[in-house]
Amino acid sequence: MKWKTTSLLGLFSLLFLFTCQNRPASGENASAGQGAALTPEEQEAFLAKGADITSATFSALSGRLRSALQQEGVAGAVQYCNLVAYPLVDSLSQAHNATIRRASLKVRNPKDKPTSAELAVLEEYHAHVKAGEPLLPMVKAIDGSRAAYYAPILIQEACLQCHGKLGETLKEEDYAVIEKLYPEDEAVGYQAGDLRGMWSVTFQR
Ligand code: HEC
Repeated sequence: MKWKTTSLLGLFSLLFLFTCQNRPASGENASAGQGAALTPEEQEAFLAKGADITSATFSALSGRLRSALQQEGVAGAVQYCNLVAYPLVDSLSQAHNATIRRASLKVRNPKDKPTSAELAVLEEYHAHVKAGEPLLPMVKAIDGSRAAYYAPILIQEACLQCHGKLGETLKEEDYAVIEKLYPEDEAVGYQAGDLRGMWSVTFQR
């Protein structure tokens, strides 16, 4: 009986010790996270805003691309993309008071290389692909004054003429033009349905 009481006491003091030790740490996290954690209202608002902005940007990019492809073929459209894609996304960023980026593990334009925060999210998306799990948009706090929206970008049939398999869906002569403009290009070898990269939109909170 006495033995039991002692061991119970021991157990309690051990528990107490753990809770006490954990308290300052979790207290620190809570205060560090206080400014950073997104409220459910912010979550919802940034998810909606991010979806709006990325779909507007996608329409603007793909609309221009489609007409360039029709008028000038793949080689001409690539040069057009090279000139227009970045400034277009930049001006939409200004219009929406946000920073809109596209990032990928295999980039064509070196400016689209992921930041360390983006890399973590991209890796998470690729892990979901491997596990056969759905790829959903997400929002995360960056710090007390900024939040980020992320959403996957998937390859469609129409993308393959510039991002597909060399000598198959992507013609050698078209790739020659791409390589000239982007000597370090890695954004090839894709099939329809592949995860190409993601949107990364940063908002002020
Ligand atoms: C006419 C050729 C062409 C087609 C078609 C095309 N792309 Fe691209 N893509 C490019 C070029 C060129 C760039 C680099 C743009 C730049 O310099 O900002 C690029 C860049 C990207 C990027 C930014 C990341 C990076 O690698 O720099 C993503 C994401 C992307 N493309 C996805 C797609 C998707 C998805 C489709 C189909 C819906 C598509 N592309 C169709 C030529 C094309």
